[in-house]
Amino acid sequence: MYIDTHCHLSSEDYDDIDIVIKDNIENNVSKIIVSGCDRKSIEESISLSKKYPSVYLTLGFHPSEVDNYDLDYLKEALKNSKVVGLGEIGLDYHYGKEKKEKQKTLFRKQLDIAKSLNIPVVIHSRDATLDTINILKEYNLKGVIHCFSGSLETAKEYIKMGYLLGIGGVVTFKNSNLYRVVEKVSLENIVLETDSPYLTPEPDRGKKNSSKYIPVIAKKISEVKKIDIEIVEKITTNNASKLFDLK
Ligand code: NI
Repeated sequence: MYIDTHCHLSSEDYDDIDIVIKDNIENNVSKIIVSGCDRKSIEESISLSKKYPSVYLTLGFHPSEVDNYDLDYLKEALKNSKVVGLGEIGLDYHYGKEKKEKQKTLFRKQLDIAKSLNIPVVIHSRDATLDTINILKEYNLKGVIHCFSGSLETAKEYIKMGYLLGIGGVVTFKNSNLYRVVEKVSLENIVLETDSPYLTPEPDRGKKNSSKYIPVIAKKISEVKKIDIEIVEKITTNNASKLFDLK
């Protein structure tokens, strides 16, 4: 049984979510953690979690929401029984360079909430590794570095701080060296994610992604690490269950 630890699920992206969920389960992806990261997707994710037993939630305001967030609203939303963490939150200097300080403020405010609720965080960090690490060091939290794509050195730094690496379709991309990092990092420090509808793994790159592709990512990791895919399945599922307290 696999867990997709990070995806986005919206009727804007998928014609029929019933079919998406059915496909996931047929492909042995029995639990998915949907990330609601703006007001609209938080609303929709909560209602999906009520409809589908396999859907769990992480909720939080993405750095792109620096001008649109409402933390009282978020605190209320986090009371939902399917919530397993806070995110995705973090820093994006690729798109939000001119709003660095505002982003850092929003990031810290949400880390404070996670700390007070004692829940794991899901971190979005793009072109902002140093600031992300320095801010996370101010807190003693657990979580996932979502869509990790940094160097082995950066990976080791996050692992030392107690974070897991979220590995997705990028590990299959021919123009990415992520597989070299995955090869050297222990499976105990990895969880699987799709970030669907984005980042579909090879050979279907370019098509719409969904959680059903998780075994494709696991297969690539098993090849890179020269181990059985069942071991990847067992250990990454165990890592995710433990971190997010999934029964
Ligand atoms: Ni995402």
